[in-house]
Amino acid sequence: MKMFHRKKSKKSTTSSKKGIKLIADTDSKNIVSEQFRTILTNINFSAVNHELKTILITSSQANEGKSTVSANLAVAWAKQGRKVLFIDADLRQPTIQSAFGLHDSRHGLSTILASDASFDLVVHQSPINNLAIITNGPIPPNPAALLGSRRMEKLLAYFRNHYDLLVLDVPPVLTVADTRVISPKVDGVVLVVRQGQAQKVAVKKSVELLQIAKANLLGYVLNDVVPKNRS
Ligand SMILES: Nc1ncnc2c1ncn2[C@@H]1O[C@H](COP(=O)(O)OP(=O)(O)O)[C@@H](O)[C@H]1O
Ligand SMILES: [Mg+2]
Repeated sequence: MKMFHRKKSKKSTTSSKKGIKLIADTDSKNIVSEQFRTILTNINFSAVNHELKTILITSSQANEGKSTVSANLAVAWAKQGRKVLFIDADLRQPTIQSAFGLHDSRHGLSTILASDASFDLVVHQSPINNLAIITNGPIPPNPAALLGSRRMEKLLAYFRNHYDLLVLDVPPVLTVADTRVISPKVDGVVLVVRQGQAQKVAVKKSVELLQIAKANLLGYVLNDVVPKNRS
């Protein structure tokens, strides 16, 4: 399996009041922005033989940086001029709507999956050019069933025709079934591994589960890496 290993430093130039931090769209020379661009290049590179339009970002456990990495990758791709749809498919832990200043939690992925309304009704324009967002919506009783549904497949098929890239934020692999259910429905999966937090055995188990689920594992993003040559 081919991997890419890229580190992402702690520095960030903008932040939401709490929760995840977004890179500034004004400061493209920022070191963190640069590192996200490197990740994009690696993902683009690994896609040479395979159309990669739907990309899911996950991790073994909570708090490893899935939402941070997925939202920032979406921002970085949008800033490159791609038409991006970010889908918050972590139906259990809403984070994205506040990061992008969207506060309508009544409508979102959970409501559109549970109804037969037009998919377009839940798409928000973000403050960033080229970046549209589907928030998670109210926490449903059955997230894994919704994400594994035929309707979710239809939603992905519908939006892949309207956007260059779909980026999905999802729950951790080990704690709930959601990610295992949805990962075979996307083109590629990236595993975020947070240094000092993720345990080898957990990462190994996650990779096994993703392979059993027939996910196309593109590689890893090592998050929160402290460079050894700097003090
Ligand atoms: N590289 C990093 N440096 C500092 N804080 C980080 C880093 N990555 C994530 N965080 C913070 O850690 C917390 C968990 O990150 P988050 O992206 O929400 O994880 P997850 O979605 O995997 O649960 C957030 O408060 C986020 O801002
Ligand atoms: Mg998250």
